[in-house]
Amino acid sequence: MRWPNILITGASSGIGTALAEACAAPGVTLHLSARTTARLEAVAAACRAKGATVRPAAVDVRDAAAMAEWIGSAGRLDLVIANAGVGAGTGDSWESAEDCRAVFETNLTGVLNTALPAIAAMAAQAPGADGWRGRIAVVASIAAFVAAPSTPAYCASKSAAQRWTEARDATERKRGIRMHSVNPGFVRTPMTSVNAFPMPFLMEPEQAARRTLDGIAAGRLRIVYPRRLYALARVVGALPPAWRNRLLMIPPPKPPTQAT
Ligand SMILES: NC(=O)c1ccc[n+]([C@@H]2O[C@H](COP(=O)([O-])OP(=O)(O)OC[C@H]3O[C@@H](n4cnc5c(N)ncnc54)[C@H](OP(=O)(O)O)[C@@H]3O)[C@@H](O)[C@H]2O)c1
Repeated sequence: MRWPNILITGASSGIGTALAEACAAPGVTLHLSARTTARLEAVAAACRAKGATVRPAAVDVRDAAAMAEWIGSAGRLDLVIANAGVGAGTGDSWESAEDCRAVFETNLTGVLNTALPAIAAMAAQAPGADGWRGRIAVVASIAAFVAAPSTPAYCASKSAAQRWTEARDATERKRGIRMHSVNPGFVRTPMTSVNAFPMPFLMEPEQAARRTLDGIAAGRLRIVYPRRLYALARVVGALPPAWRNRLLMIPPPKPPTQAT
């Protein structure tokens, strides 16, 4: 057992479910959240069947007070994974004001609503078996390294989350807390099931969970996979912005989806 007390947001689907199930084991307490209770209860049952103690909670990451209350009352936390996120496509039109705000509120404010109370709680607890008071992993994306015109808010929210996490690690580690940015490529989940364009190096959520947890255990500040897509993203991301926009407008745009 690597971390006995783990909290994961967005655990009712996709990568969050795979992370919860990969962590579930006897002696592990899992605090799992999402907005949809029915799917969350099914994940909790699967994790209990693997021997974990599970405490599911219906909490919206956009609700700062509810998140602070939930995290503050969880008891000791060795690992917190800020995974909840939403995507929104623009189709061939403009990004709507509602979608733009919803994406930032979940993917950025929701991350802060998770990480800031977790940092406060961890700062007050003794170091665990790995020598750290606690670890916080923020699920950003390889999209953090490319400003794609079909998903401006998504890329920008992920970029902000990734940069904030990595910069904050430098100071947090001085008081015994580690931060990790997690940057997956394409993973087969409900979020990507709407994509009508080719998704190179598409991974299963179980692979993504394993790569994430192995990266955290290895102490990596930036966890990013698959490496070939990351290399491609860095090259495209380094192009002059006008060239990059022209190049990224060639494939069919992400279909319009409403961020909720
Ligand atoms: N799939 C990919 O290719 C990919 C690639 C890179 C990064 N990511 C990131 O990985 C994370 C997980 O994505 P996924 O692909 O697993 O998506 P997913 O299957 O759509 O799952 C998203 C999870 O977040 C929860 N959630 C959404 N809004 C929430 C809110 N306001 N409060 C609490 N929970 C909320 C959802 O539950 P409820 O709807 O019940 O609240 C669900 O459990 C996201 O941050 C995503 O941006 C995904």
